[in-house]
Amino acid sequence: MGLGFDKKLPDAFVKNVIDLCGQEGLDWIESLPRIVSELEDLWGISIESHFQNLSYNYVAEGNSVDRNKRVLKIALPLRNPEIFDEAKALKAFEGCGAVRIYEKDFDRRAILIEHLLPGTNLKELFSTNKDRAIDISIKVLKRIQRVRFRSVELPDLTDWFAAFDRAKETDFPRHYLRRAAELLSRLESAASKRSLLHGDFHHENILLADDNEFKIIDPKGVIGNLGYEISVFLNNHLEWIEHKKDIDGAVEKFSRAFEISPQKLKHWAYVQRVLSVCWGIEDSSGDWNKHLKQANIWIA
Ligand SMILES: Nc1ncnc2c1ncn2[C@@H]1O[C@H](COP(=O)(O)OP(=O)(O)O)[C@@H](O)[C@H]1O
Ligand SMILES: [Mg+2]
Repeated sequence: MGLGFDKKLPDAFVKNVIDLCGQEGLDWIESLPRIVSELEDLWGISIESHFQNLSYNYVAEGNSVDRNKRVLKIALPLRNPEIFDEAKALKAFEGCGAVRIYEKDFDRRAILIEHLLPGTNLKELFSTNKDRAIDISIKVLKRIQRVRFRSVELPDLTDWFAAFDRAKETDFPRHYLRRAAELLSRLESAASKRSLLHGDFHHENILLADDNEFKIIDPKGVIGNLGYEISVFLNNHLEWIEHKKDIDGAVEKFSRAFEISPQKLKHWAYVQRVLSVCWGIEDSSGDWNKHLKQANIWIA
């Protein structure tokens, strides 16, 4: 093995592992050097170091024996790790604006993918040119939307919204759940078109590759309404803009590009924000109130 374990794992990553997996997570961290070494032998790769912005997966860069740059991603010891659906989605998106996948190992919950270089993400571009970041995301989204998905077995967006029912059993503010469910039933009622979605389409999952094209990494893989996909991006965009009223320009751009009314996109964004807070509370403690309140911007 290369230098992968000389560098300390980021604190935020270790905290997430403990929050989600407890002792089993700590044991897994202990065993990571062995797991990486086994995968190095199995796949003929050499791992150099992990990325600095790890959150819910161990992700590291390295090389294949033929000196091509590769990225190794290993999921936490969760019962249903998302990495298996990620592998399916990457296969389905192959050749349509996604990073290439080379290997997967179910026992070790690992995948081997192409290393995108320079790998600049849209968050970095956002800080200098917000409009360009939006235009690029539209281009990338149009590309991944071309995929035919009928034979792909992946969850349906409806499965994800079961989180609203689980939240009802807690002290989650009722009116947010009611409003989100109401909007969702309207958005989903009109024989809505379904497609294969990335499922976590935000700035840091869109990276620049060496052919000067931006590509997606880290898909969750879910089948559902395109409005949801766009709303993930919009909520992320909203986090970083100074004047919240400036969000309308971004909504307009997506609305024109995908022929979905601005109002529908805003309603999707409300629903998506409430859903992500439900998940956040399920995964870890913390003050989620501010995040929840932001949902109101979409229905102001
Ligand atoms: N194929 C890749 N090429 C370049 N950088 C990558 C690649 N995959 C992941 N990364 C880097 O690792 C980080 C975490 O990877 P990601 O797959 O998004 O993990 P997570 O599912 O935990 O968000 C990314 O934000 C990016 O900086
Ligand atoms: Mg990511």
